Amino acid sequence: MTPLLALEGVGVDYAGPSRLAPRPAKAVAILTDISFTLDRGETVGLVGESGSGKTTLGRAIVQMVRPTRGRVLWEGVDLAALDERGLRPYRPHLQMVFQDPYEAMNPRLTIRQIIAEPLRLARVPGAECARRVASLLDLVGLDPASLSRMPRELSGGQRQRVGLARALATGPALLVLDEPTSGLDASLQARILNLLRDIQDTSTTSYLFIGHDLAAVSYLARRIIVLWGGHIVEQGPAAVLVATPAHPYTAALLRAAGAGNQDQGPAHTKERPPATRPGGIVTIGCVYARHCPRAQDLCWAEGPPFRARAGGHSVACHYPQDTDQGSA
Ligand SMILES: Nc1ncnc2c1ncn2[C@@H]1O[C@H](COP(=O)(O)OP(=O)(O)OP(=O)(O)O)[C@@H](O)[C@H]1O
Ligand code: SF4
Ligand SMILES: [Mg+2]
Repeated sequence: MTPLLALEGVGVDYAGPSRLAPRPAKAVAILTDISFTLDRGETVGLVGESGSGKTTLGRAIVQMVRPTRGRVLWEGVDLAALDERGLRPYRPHLQMVFQDPYEAMNPRLTIRQIIAEPLRLARVPGAECARRVASLLDLVGLDPASLSRMPRELSGGQRQRVGLARALATGPALLVLDEPTSGLDASLQARILNLLRDIQDTSTTSYLFIGHDLAAVSYLARRIIVLWGGHIVEQGPAAVLVATPAHPYTAALLRAAGAGNQDQGPAHTKERPPATRPGGIVTIGCVYARHCPRAQDLCWAEGPPFRARAGGHSVACHYPQDTDQGSA
């Protein structure tokens, strides 16, 4: 059966300055060779540290960022090959809840106008639009009095709910949830996660759930993709990745979460000085080699291929954690 969404070899380059390259001489690859599928009603988690490209990938899926390479197949149709006019019928089905809901809202619009915006764009008539806005507000647990308020008058949790209501307005088949609970206290996080579960219990909405914390993402996601430096390094069933991570970076992410460092990802990937191959030569091989405690000669010489394992699990590593080969 054709999956709802299939990414094939997607790459995104940015020509402008970034944290990685403040003054780039040429375009910088932010995402490289991203391939995965997502089925109707499925939740896939996307984890990785800050700057790994999670938001860029979410935006490339909803076509807010146009991929430089590869295909983004929506029920077999390549969205990346369509122009803005061709994308128009697909837009209502692809929605994103933004990492910073305040930044994504027009501060001059009321909450009513913000939630109604996608309905207006989809040319939903006025009375039907008002009815749908009221029911969305109820769904996300916001007081009807909030409708006449401005975004600045709401708390972070309330804004997150407004972002969710707006994203749900057109009944999307896919919601990209970009860290929808970041910055919220534990009880609000739990309420939003439960709400997302409830929505999925009564619909076939698929989620791409983006987060830093693998264990937390696995609360909603059955399958998880781990991103490092714009590359997928491991993907597979959430339970397998949490219990027996194969890629050293996945294991480091889990350790970092266990140590309470959930916002920034594994500290060692930022703090370790760049390593070189014995002899002082830096070569191109595994993208994670400079940070990997298991790196051996082969890792510096050759990038590891993606190896499929049983149960839809795959990993890009010459010496996976869960085998005894990597006694570096
Ligand atoms: N519009 C842009 N132009 C140039 N570079 C960008 C742009 N947006 C993002 N980047 C760069 O792309 C890389 C990936 O950014 P992205 O926001 O996708 O990461 P992320 O994994 O979502 O990080 P975080 O966890 O902090 O949200 C970063 O190095 C970032 O600086
Ligand atoms: S291929 Fe080598 S350097 Fe890369 S993650 Fe695996 S062990 Fe580490
Ligand atoms: Mg992000």
